[in-house]
Amino acid sequence: MILTYQKQCKARVDAALESVLHPPCEELQRLYQAMRYSVLNGGKRVRPLLVYAACEALGGDAALADGAACAVELIHAYSLVHDDLPAMDDDDLRRGQPTTHKAFDEANAILAGDGLQALAFEVLADARYTQQNPQLRLQMVCILAHAAGPAGMVGGQAIDLEAVGHQLTQAALEKMDRHKTGALIEASVQLGALASGKADADSLQALRAYARAVGLAFQVQDDILDVESDTATLGKRQGADIAHDKPTYPALLGLEEAKAYAHNLCDQALDALRPFGAVAEPLRALALYIIERRH
Ligand code: IPE
Ligand code: IPE
Ligand code: MG
Ligand code: MG
Ligand code: MG
Repeated sequence: MILTYQKQCKARVDAALESVLHPPCEELQRLYQAMRYSVLNGGKRVRPLLVYAACEALGGDAALADGAACAVELIHAYSLVHDDLPAMDDDDLRRGQPTTHKAFDEANAILAGDGLQALAFEVLADARYTQQNPQLRLQMVCILAHAAGPAGMVGGQAIDLEAVGHQLTQAALEKMDRHKTGALIEASVQLGALASGKADADSLQALRAYARAVGLAFQVQDDILDVESDTATLGKRQGADIAHDKPTYPALLGLEEAKAYAHNLCDQALDALRPFGAVAEPLRALALYIIERRH
């Protein structure tokens, strides 16, 4: 089920992403080429999938969520381009291809990331992509800005850089991951719910609990895969965390306990969905996918 659903949502968001990535003039060909390279390159599209699944769980049509789905993936793609830069994780492989700064150069990778970030907000704020009323759109823009910014993903990346070479407590590791990875995942679910136009306080609270759990589970599994997958399957260098002395769940808890923790978080996510019926099946399937994925 998840595979068909994943394929359909991927096709939707890929079409939307493709449509916003055309250079407006000749001089910008290279910048747009670097942006397209960073986005249209086979990501799993987990965040857009969460947007669509949350929208549909509240009875909203998928078309209502296209703008938000596109926006969260643009932010995510930008975060990866910058995450891979020499000054950050210094990685040379992403999604099975050379990282953007390797395929282009550092300056173009920095600008491509900057461009993708601004484009995300344009798409979310522009009524051509995001059909919701202006008040709801503004609320959605604020949610994404908060999640992407210094109190969210960027803050988490700052904590991550500071943490290199240090042994963190589990609470500190969790704080870092809730910022660097959890925040955008939580925002994806929230944006999808709001995009449905049918969100009420109870459903939002339940979905927030779901998203908090899958957001953390996602990074726990990312850390696990860095240990036990391989570079060809991952599409990024296996063992990069160990090589860079990054604090991770397997490093702190051991591999088996890290896996148990991921399962525990998945159970918490499924529990939070109890009030929902069959309409939340895609969200349930995504929670399982997030901890069972191999890349
Ligand atoms: C990787 O994200 C970076 C993290 C936040 C852990 P994904 O595993 O979603 O990467 P893509 O988009 O599928 O390449
Ligand atoms: C990245 O975390 C989180 C981002 C905000 C991009 P990682 O550094 O663990 O992601 P990968 O393993 O390089 O994809
Ligand atoms: Mg990193
Ligand atoms: Mg990295
Ligand atoms: Mg990682």
